[in-house]
Amino acid sequence: MESLSGRTAVVTGAGSGMGRAFAERFAAAGMNVVLADVELPKLDEAVAAITATGAAAIGVPTDVTDGAAVDALRDAAIERFGNVHVLCNNAGVGGSGPSGGAFVNEPEWRWVLEVNLFGVIHGHRAFLPHMTGHGEGGHVVNTASMAGHFPGHSAYSASKWAVVAITEGLYHDQRLRAANVGVSCLCPGWVNTAIMDSARNRPEWAAPKLGVEPNEIEVMVEAYVRDQIRSGMDPANVADLVHDAIVSNTFWVFTDRDMVASLEPRYRAILDGTNPPEREFGI
Ligand SMILES: NC(=O)c1ccc[n+]([C@@H]2O[C@H](COP(=O)([O-])OP(=O)(O)OC[C@H]3O[C@@H](n4cnc5c(N)ncnc54)[C@H](O)[C@@H]3O)[C@@H](O)[C@H]2O)c1
Repeated sequence: MESLSGRTAVVTGAGSGMGRAFAERFAAAGMNVVLADVELPKLDEAVAAITATGAAAIGVPTDVTDGAAVDALRDAAIERFGNVHVLCNNAGVGGSGPSGGAFVNEPEWRWVLEVNLFGVIHGHRAFLPHMTGHGEGGHVVNTASMAGHFPGHSAYSASKWAVVAITEGLYHDQRLRAANVGVSCLCPGWVNTAIMDSARNRPEWAAPKLGVEPNEIEVMVEAYVRDQIRSGMDPANVADLVHDAIVSNTFWVFTDRDMVASLEPRYRAILDGTNPPEREFGI
């Protein structure tokens, strides 16, 4: 999509962090913006900030784990602005460290997969027939993560590997169908957002089991990740990369080239048939 002005974008998880930055960047490019989030005060705040600039924006309270709610999001966007051209499946939650996620807490696995993976699946299912059908062209951006490239024994890692896989699959699918819809897979490294406080949106059914304290490794990993995220990239810079990827129809959007380079030993080991190398990054 070479020109975004006058077109319409839908962004999930737009109340905070990267999603809000995408919505602001799209508004600055002259787009109509539909912001969706489950955290309503933040959603209202983000919509007010964008409309105060004179841009056209609405907020639609949406839980992306609920397929009917994502259908309603599409319908609300079409009702207000007509055809949707850009969809950012960005809503996501962190979850806890490796051991807690893997061995202890099944509800948390389900919650993280519901938001991070099913949120994207619902986005594809609800929006793609419309976006490919209206014929005006479009672009889907899925927010995966570098965690979708590094092996990790956690719900977060599993969800992001799956998002990378289905996003690349969607890319091929769209090409096979000669559809006029581009696809990008955003794989951020560390970005300075509220992702480490994802539990603010955790439903009651996924609450941690009473009496299960985080172990030493979980405490260490959490402190390390918090520190990296605090000193991570500004979401506005990620939004510039996403904007440029849509305009140039670029599939991979990475924010940290050193992390990408560190994938090489893993792929080499696969080609050579040797055991996995030591990991460098603690995602
Ligand atoms: N921050 C990082 O370092 C980083 C790195 C790689 C990938 N990511 C991914 O980036 C995306 C955006 O996260 P962020 O870092 O901006 O964090 P954030 O917490 O600031 O924003 C995430 C947004 O998603 C919303 N959300 C959570 N559950 C939802 C649900 N069920 N339905 C609708 N909205 C929901 C939250 O309310 C919040 O507004 C996520 O998919 C995350 O996994 C983040």
